[in-house]
Amino acid sequence: MNEATETTVSADVTAVAGTTGESDGRDQAAAARPDYARLFRLDGRRAVVIGAGSGIGRESALALAAHGADVVCADRNLEAAKETAALGAGTEAYELDVTDADAVARAADDLGDVDVLVFTAATNVRKRVLDYTAEEFDRVVGLNLRSSFELVRAFGAGMAERGRGSIVGFSSIRAVTVEPGQGVYAATKAGLVQLLRAAAVELGQQGVRVNAIAPGIVDTPLTAQIRAVPEWSQAYASKSALGRWSRPDELVGAVVYLASDASSFVTGSQLFVDGGWTVIDGRYTPPM
Ligand SMILES: NC(=O)c1ccc[n+]([C@@H]2O[C@H](COP(=O)([O-])OP(=O)(O)OC[C@H]3O[C@@H](n4cnc5c(N)ncnc54)[C@H](O)[C@@H]3O)[C@@H](O)[C@H]2O)c1
Repeated sequence: MNEATETTVSADVTAVAGTTGESDGRDQAAAARPDYARLFRLDGRRAVVIGAGSGIGRESALALAAHGADVVCADRNLEAAKETAALGAGTEAYELDVTDADAVARAADDLGDVDVLVFTAATNVRKRVLDYTAEEFDRVVGLNLRSSFELVRAFGAGMAERGRGSIVGFSSIRAVTVEPGQGVYAATKAGLVQLLRAAAVELGQQGVRVNAIAPGIVDTPLTAQIRAVPEWSQAYASKSALGRWSRPDELVGAVVYLASDASSFVTGSQLFVDGGWTVIDGRYTPPM
């Protein structure tokens, strides 16, 4: 069902009820109103999660499946993708290296009519800008930004043709706030947000929504280097308003929301799931 069409019908009927105040109008509104108990359901939808072998991607795949979607767990690490698939009903595994543009295009052909694309694969080399090598720069930009571009192009085209779809990419608090050693990663995340916003603008009239989720600090293999240094780990925990790290499962509510009709009028947004990290200056707590 076309999400855009659904929203328009519902809004029109509600407007009639509001202006006339007639019981007929109210009855029509009730008939057209979505079943709110099923607002987040994804039955009959096909979702592809890239990066599903670990961390946030694994939990996202399992949560989408729990809401009724058929989920393809895609990852460069096929064994890890299979492990995820084995954990959730309605899931299958698929080997995909997103740095291979031809493989991404083939995946979009192979995987059928995809309604939801979630992609998480990313990397970080924590080094000061002056110490970065060109090879490291290319590696981080190649995975975090170039592959995102290939994924949006490959899967977005089919969604636009079919007139429906939701694309969810993973940005970061680093899209808006940096610290020493995060420059290139931060640049890729800021770039990704603008890429997704542009895609939202270009694909919106064809019924495709495109959004970003910006996690704070999440306990996954990506952040193992930080967790391994107690001072660094604790400093990160105390930075957010909630005063702790998050678990990867705490990101999935945002994923299901953006994948489902619960967010049918949300596109071009960046949803922060950061425990309040980005609302706090954090350098000093004044006495009072
Ligand atoms: N963990 C955090 O604290 C944190 C914070 C902010 C943003 N993020 C973002 O959230 C997303 C998910 O992070 P995570 O912590 O779950 O990462 P993770 O390292 O736990 O998982 C990444 C997954 O991507 C897969 N992958 C890597 N390269 C790939 C490739 N070329 N092709 C296909 N798959 C590939 C890996 O095999 C792995 O399964 C990333 O975009 C990351 O930048 C994470």
